[in-house]
Amino acid sequence: MTTKPRILTGDTPTGRLHLGHWVGSLENRVALQNDYDCFFLIANMHAFTTRADKPDEIRESTLEIVKDWLACGIDPDRSTFVLQTEIPAIAELSWYLAMLLPFNRVMRNPTLKHELETKNLGDNYSFGFPMYTVGQCADILIFRPELVPVGEDQLAHIEPCREVARRFNQLYCGVDPQINDADYVQAGGVFPIPAGKVGRVARLIGTDGKNKMSKSLNNAIFLTDSFKQIKKKMGGLYTGRTAMDEPGDINNALFDYVRAFIRDPERVAELERKYAAGDNIGDGHIKVEVAEAIDQLLEPMRKRRAPYEGKDGDEKILNLLRHHTQQANDAAEETLYLAKKAMKLDFGPRKIVLE
Ligand code: TRP
Repeated sequence: MTTKPRILTGDTPTGRLHLGHWVGSLENRVALQNDYDCFFLIANMHAFTTRADKPDEIRESTLEIVKDWLACGIDPDRSTFVLQTEIPAIAELSWYLAMLLPFNRVMRNPTLKHELETKNLGDNYSFGFPMYTVGQCADILIFRPELVPVGEDQLAHIEPCREVARRFNQLYCGVDPQINDADYVQAGGVFPIPAGKVGRVARLIGTDGKNKMSKSLNNAIFLTDSFKQIKKKMGGLYTGRTAMDEPGDINNALFDYVRAFIRDPERVAELERKYAAGDNIGDGHIKVEVAEAIDQLLEPMRKRRAPYEGKDGDEKILNLLRHHTQQANDAAEETLYLAKKAMKLDFGPRKIVLE
């Protein structure tokens, strides 16, 4: 058993991962693997909240996301992959936590509201859709992590999770409500109060230059894109600047990309200086330079992904998931047992075994 503090975070399998995921969360995950005991969740149950009619797509995206993770450099020998639908303790804990989360509080969640708008769900969204808020609390708390690396938009989901954890610990474990968040476990609580951790770039703009990068808005550069695709997408980024000697605005979307992906700070400063002065530098040139920097970032990912492509690759991923799910269940069952015990629901231990 490792004694490292834990991380839990994850992605919903609604498509391949893109650069927004990389700068917002994936990069942190790769960097933190050594110092934390990491659990990475594929939220395939949550994918059904908006696409219950597309089980084939969800299945395919589930495998693609694991491939993307491996491509990024997440190491399956150090980190544990968690397939949400095979961890019954998550669904169970969701029920108990739902009792501790006011319904109005759920419906006021800005990220949830935003999703209702951008996904055009209108008034016809399912009961299951807002339920995913409490589901996400359970995803996190079942692994008792200290840290949850996420993109900025997900912080609105971490907050209710922290509230629910405090409430549970106060109600069922007798923890004093006046205590500091950091001291809950020491004071007898089952759950640490987890903290969100946002990546280097909190919110990456899409190649439309307007909205957050997102698959559904068609403004994303995927981790699997070729150099040609990257160049084309960067080329389409509109800045409104028309001449090489026109002073440019270094706070435009193009320069967000420059700062996010050109990793030599001196070169970034030079580009900023020349652009602001209109010193003989074209947008087209900068776009190509950014595309090259992105390509360099993605090249090792393509190499790491290669062994997992195709049908054989799918088999490898499925085997990996089965193996990891067993480990994840052991950890999740332990938490559920402690939580139920605190709730006077301890009627004997049990073991989940995958056959
Ligand atoms: N809702 C997250 C997203 O769409 C995915 C997710 C599900 C998650 N459960 C989680 C992220 C728990 C962090 C922790 O990106």
